[in-house]
Amino acid sequence: MTIYPPSVRIVEVGPRDGLQNEKMSVPTADKIRFVNLLSESGLPVIEATSFVSPKSVPQLSDGDQVLRGISRKAGVSYPVLVPNLLGLERALAAGASEIAIFTAASELFNQHNINASIAESLLRFEPVMKRAKAELKLWVRGYVSTCFRCPYELKEDPTKKIDPQKVFDVVQKLIDMGVDEISLGDTIGAAEPDDVARLLDILLKRFSVDQLAVHFHDTYHFHERTLKNVRKALEMGIWIVDSSAGGLGGCPYAPGASGNLATEDLIHMLHGMKIDTGVDLAKVTDASRFISSVLRRPLTSRYLQSGA
Ligand code: HMG
Ligand code: MG
Repeated sequence: MTIYPPSVRIVEVGPRDGLQNEKMSVPTADKIRFVNLLSESGLPVIEATSFVSPKSVPQLSDGDQVLRGISRKAGVSYPVLVPNLLGLERALAAGASEIAIFTAASELFNQHNINASIAESLLRFEPVMKRAKAELKLWVRGYVSTCFRCPYELKEDPTKKIDPQKVFDVVQKLIDMGVDEISLGDTIGAAEPDDVARLLDILLKRFSVDQLAVHFHDTYHFHERTLKNVRKALEMGIWIVDSSAGGLGGCPYAPGASGNLATEDLIHMLHGMKIDTGVDLAKVTDASRFISSVLRRPLTSRYLQSGA
């Protein structure tokens, strides 16, 4: 008999992963309202924005105002993405108390995304970790992108998969640096349940389920496959799952990546499986409908589209 975790912690990434990928510039006040509406739903973690270079991601260049402007709800964490020491200092000045650093298992992807090799990115994080962890004792998440396939490596070899050992090595290095939780990114929505099982099998020999989260993109809006990937991860004990309100999302440096696993679809599945999330699904849909009206387009979540 398959045993699933009794509860799942959902990490909402819509305001960051979702809005970083939008062509239109979303007014700061609407970003703040989106986060505040999400805060009302009971989501325990909401990645509020990022403090990357505004040249790389102009969509989130108002991260400072967003983080200062949101109404923080007691018990909710609002981590922000930080690429370097400058980003950390900006985040701290705006009141961040949790951060996320990010690298990848693919050299090519890292070069395109953050203009650094994997080793260089880890070196860049050393002063960030020293300040955030050793001095300030902040909670730090680490993302590892392209855990299954890399859009740039696929151009060279369309059958190429990322070696799980490479992911393991990067995860190990981040954990050694003091990162509290690692989110395993299926950046271009290419994983199949067997790939998920293969990777987690290796990682769970060394790391605990309390240290690992899964982050599935739903690039092709397959929905079912993405949810199957989540079920496979849950089967293996994973209980921290990233998702994005309405299915918003993608990385501007991952060609074609256009959506995340939708928070509504995830909650609908989990509640159907009698897995507790503590989240009010109707309130998440309120937030998604709001941001959908700002973006003037329907979002991809199946649950949202069903009008339930
Ligand atoms: P670089 O050009 O190599 O770095 O960029 P640099 O240090 O030479 O900086 C260039 C300019 O940016 C300088 O300004 C810096 O001051 C400025 P200039 O002197 O030219 O006027 N700058 C900054 N400004 C504000 N805040 C900062 C900052 N840093 C530099 N923090 C860098 C390297 C990493 C900064 C850049 O490539 C970058 O910001 N990349 C971020 C790309 C990004 O945000 N991608 C999406 C997020 S990752 C993702 O979505 C995947 C994930 O969801 C998981 C998954 O799905 O797999 C997490
Ligand atoms: Mg992502």
